[in-house]
Amino acid sequence: MKKAKTKKTLKSEPTKKKTASKAKLDPTSQNRIIKLINSSLNIDEVLHLSMKLMEKTLSATASSILLHDPETNELKFYLATGAKKEILKVIRMPADKGVAGRSFQTGRTLLIPDAAKSSFFYKKVDDKTKFVTKNLIATPLPIRGKRIGVLEVLNKAQGTFSKQDEKKLKNMAAEISIAIDNARLYDEVKRAYIDSMLNMSKAEIYRDVDTGKHIERCGEYALRLAPEFGIPEKEHENLRVSMMMHDIGKIAIPDAILLKPGRLDDAEMEVMKTHATKGGEILGQAPLLQLAVDIATCHHEKWDGSGYPKGLSGNNIPIEARIVSICDVFDALISVRPYKDAWPVDEALAHIKNESGKHFDPDLVNCFLSISNQIIKYNRKHQDTEAY
Ligand code: C2E
Ligand code: SIN
Ligand code: SIN
Ligand code: SIN
Ligand code: FE
Repeated sequence: MKKAKTKKTLKSEPTKKKTASKAKLDPTSQNRIIKLINSSLNIDEVLHLSMKLMEKTLSATASSILLHDPETNELKFYLATGAKKEILKVIRMPADKGVAGRSFQTGRTLLIPDAAKSSFFYKKVDDKTKFVTKNLIATPLPIRGKRIGVLEVLNKAQGTFSKQDEKKLKNMAAEISIAIDNARLYDEVKRAYIDSMLNMSKAEIYRDVDTGKHIERCGEYALRLAPEFGIPEKEHENLRVSMMMHDIGKIAIPDAILLKPGRLDDAEMEVMKTHATKGGEILGQAPLLQLAVDIATCHHEKWDGSGYPKGLSGNNIPIEARIVSICDVFDALISVRPYKDAWPVDEALAHIKNESGKHFDPDLVNCFLSISNQIIKYNRKHQDTEAY
């Protein structure tokens, strides 16, 4: 039942783009790096690739980024390449120790042609990793007049590093700093934005008489279906958050319609249907949550093309929206709504089955039915506390 995924790669939109004043690497490498930075949201992947490229350029065997932790005044290996990268993740060194510490403190780039003979070299790291550092360059990572850490390259393949290598590394450090800074600013803005959207969604839930439990339950069901449909683990939090906002467009629907105790007439239903497009518009104000936009916009599309707002069909509906749709409808059916009673579970399951290939993606229906026991169990444990 596995399905080719139609996932989109979400784009990074750094809030502030900056460029280093005088990074002089060969233009192809530079373009490749800039492309990577702009095309991927995953800063760690970008940095890792930058480091590999940097190692190639400088014929280095390994490299690492150490970031300063102001709370403990230590330098921590944030990223490292080479065989010991796992163990390095847990190693920290005092910010005034070693070549790295000295570079961090003084802001200078240090070229150490023979680590064994250097009085600065901090051997404890090598002792722990069993990596033998022969020579290295360490250069600070500057951001807005401050230093956030240190970039190191280790062990030139042949001979030792040159003054030329030192210059190149300095330029790369400037680029890497910018990438890290942009990612941090981006993360901050994104977090604040997601928080405010989640708060808005919750406010909406209270107006809709429904408690937040419906949305939490749907998020949980969605996460149980996601792995079967090619959505990797690292996307799950994004899916959960985006899922929780799928009905945010109901903010734009008047109470008289949203809270109407009975069935909506055709005109009222037309107004109600605008909640999908409006949700997409609200979430699209800042281009940070493309997935949330897609879900809000497409969660009432149907597999056979008879849904709204666009009448998309089949795989043209993003997989995440198809997942949300089946979860949302099932949970709505077995819940009380201002306009309806809760359906018995077996009738709701029969409905889902019957809508296979009509409302819902048939593969999803099979998957949903195969785990329906878990889903129902979860539902029963997480009932709405407020009855109405
Ligand atoms: P909702 O209550 O969260 O329902 C989500 C979806 O679950 C509905 O999307 C529909 O596909 C399914 N669903 C819910 N209850 C039933 C039901 O009794 N029978 C069937 N066959 N399907 C059901 P839909 O229809 O596009 O509605 C979207 C939203 O519009 C609903 O979200 C609800 O807020 C509102 N709405 C729909 N119909 C009525 C109504 O007759 N009266 C009121 N007051 N609101 C309604
Ligand atoms: C460069 O283009 O100067 C290298 C940048 C980097 O490694 O991020
Ligand atoms: C040092 O900076 O002195 C050692 C750091 C390392 O081994 O990577
Ligand atoms: C992600 O891809 O991990 C997050 C993207 C987003 O929330 O917009
Ligand atoms: Fe909806």
